[in-house]
Amino acid sequence: MHIIKDRGFTPGRGDIVTPKAVYARREFLMQAAAGGAMAAGFSAGPALAQTAAPGKLKPLSGAKSAVSGAVTMEKPTAYADVTSYNNFYEFGTDKSDPASRAGSLKPQPWSVVIEGEVKKPGTWDLDALLKLAPMEERIYRMRCVEGWSMVIPWVGYSLAELIKRVEPTGDAKYLQFVTLADKAQMPGLRSPVLDWPYVEGLRMDEAMQPLAMLAFGLYGEVLPNQNGAPLRLVVPWKYGFKSAKSIVRIRFVDKQPKTSWETAAAREYGFYSNVNPKVDHPRWSQATERRIGEDGLFAKKRPTLMFNGYEAQVGQLYAGMDLAKFY
Ligand code: MTE
Repeated sequence: MHIIKDRGFTPGRGDIVTPKAVYARREFLMQAAAGGAMAAGFSAGPALAQTAAPGKLKPLSGAKSAVSGAVTMEKPTAYADVTSYNNFYEFGTDKSDPASRAGSLKPQPWSVVIEGEVKKPGTWDLDALLKLAPMEERIYRMRCVEGWSMVIPWVGYSLAELIKRVEPTGDAKYLQFVTLADKAQMPGLRSPVLDWPYVEGLRMDEAMQPLAMLAFGLYGEVLPNQNGAPLRLVVPWKYGFKSAKSIVRIRFVDKQPKTSWETAAAREYGFYSNVNPKVDHPRWSQATERRIGEDGLFAKKRPTLMFNGYEAQVGQLYAGMDLAKFY
């Protein structure tokens, strides 16, 4: 049997956290900041001022979004952390693997196939997708099911913009997102840790909620490969694994589609996966979270918020649903 150690997020096989990665990161932060990271604490500054491009990739700017809830004033997580502490299993299961190994991903040329229950199926080139709607900057809280969180300034637009243009039929009840699975570009595919390609799904009304985003960039530049270049989903009220990276196909379907994590461990990962401090994962409490960048010796964990703090925007989508059953 394939034994994997220190894989916190690997269904049924892992430890509670990823001790090696966490300690390595703490050490790195403490060295890098010479103690400054410890003082960072809970300070919330003027978020927008911090989202300037780091000058590493092609610029991609967006106007401040007017969508309700789209701009938290919480301090964005440092670019170095956003781009070096990742989950992208196609490049390996350690948090540092995507940053060190995703250089082999070719985000251009790229296209996305739209198929299924739509009046206008077809293939969209990346350039056409980039021009489809005005780019917006949105600063979202992101919460991973493993118990850590970040604040990320994304660049993109509402997924609803694309959905409207392809004209879903009355039978389009759900969307399935299929991501790239190319062994030549993605060394992690050699491991059977997930059933490739990585697939995710949303109910149509969730996909139409304006906070659900197609992201093409972060920190004012195109997405780094490790964050899901050239385009990914971002659904801030759900655990991070719903936010599928490097999407190549969107299917409009009439039945709830399978997702990779449900297929891997249905008891642990449900279709909805809404952030919910009252419903624990079988191996992890979801009541609190560790904000990346606040991991000094005395940093307190933060309480996790219902729907990751987006309840005012999305709560009504789940009115009357038993969220312990539909986790
Ligand atoms: N998308 C693909 N294709 N493959 C993955 O392994 N991991 C998910 C999600 N999208 C994943 C993916 C998980 S578990 C998380 S927490 C987020 O991406 C992490 O996004 P980030 O690395 O940009 O913070």
